[in-house]
Amino acid sequence: MTRKPHDVSFSGKTVVITGAGSGIGRALAVRLAGLGADLALCDVDGDGVEATAVRCEGLGGRVRTDRLDVTERRAVLAYAQEIRAHFGTVNQVYNNAGIAYYGEVERESFKDIERVLDVNFWGVVNVTKAFLPHLIASGDGHVVNVSSLFGLITYPGQSAYNASKFAVRGFTECLRQEMLLARHPVRVTCVHPGGIRTAVARNATAAEGMDAARIARAFDRRLALHSPEMAADTIVEGVAAHRARVLIGAEAKALDLLGRISPTGSQRFGTWMSRLIRLAPRPGRTA
Ligand SMILES: NC(=O)c1ccc[n+]([C@@H]2O[C@H](COP(=O)([O-])OP(=O)(O)OC[C@H]3O[C@@H](n4cnc5c(N)ncnc54)[C@H](O)[C@@H]3O)[C@@H](O)[C@H]2O)c1
Repeated sequence: MTRKPHDVSFSGKTVVITGAGSGIGRALAVRLAGLGADLALCDVDGDGVEATAVRCEGLGGRVRTDRLDVTERRAVLAYAQEIRAHFGTVNQVYNNAGIAYYGEVERESFKDIERVLDVNFWGVVNVTKAFLPHLIASGDGHVVNVSSLFGLITYPGQSAYNASKFAVRGFTECLRQEMLLARHPVRVTCVHPGGIRTAVARNATAAEGMDAARIARAFDRRLALHSPEMAADTIVEGVAAHRARVLIGAEAKALDLLGRISPTGSQRFGTWMSRLIRLAPRPGRTA
């Protein structure tokens, strides 16, 4: 059953979605198009974002697509100006673009860690800062940053991803406090999905010598529990209700609770889980 956002109208709002060419970003685009929003869809994957636009056509408002790499700061700043000029205003930004990576600290390269931080953290910073003046000027703004369950608890093999998603959470929660203190008309929501059936694991890379395809299969089989449509509905509902934090899936809610009751207990749980659901062989062993 499709749940209805209860608090605000999305109709006529200009909405920017990064990483709109696949998964949660695509499902968000379709959902928000159905609610009458004007969409600025972007992705580093130009074909993917075009395919999303085709699905949104005829559902509601205007749709514009752009190929954009969120790590390219100059391009992001220029994009924000273009979108403001094109639509006249910008109301909501969904910082959804992200990549996954698997590698233990012992094995991962500095370059790999930097790449994950560049996309998942600096991408969010670039887009948020580029659009913030426009969101404030709109008089009715909202920043929606997609962190992860792994922005709440840690998991072996996810140090780079964990660091990037914890950073997104810290940045986002602080931004919310600052918008409230400054009395700016911008709401802020941090999203923590559990396991969603998207291409994220299949698109992931892994430390040298690790079998990324095998890890992706294990993720898809054991951890990808929810549809991207369910994730999009939960996000839209949370945005409509002006929630500070949106948790997607029972596992995200349960592990968030465990992390708050016992931060060290949640670390032990992550270690135990990784023994049970082995995404990759332990260092020194072959696949
Ligand atoms: N799928 C899950 O289980 C899950 C769980 C927690 C958090 N997330 C987060 O949700 C968000 C969406 O992921 P998804 O699961 O839909 O994955 P996905 O791989 O299906 O979609 C991610 C999209 O981001 C785009 N992207 C990657 N790097 C980019 C860049 N530099 N610039 C612009 N676009 C870029 C990709 O091209 C892709 O279209 C990500 O931030 C991810 O970390 C996903």
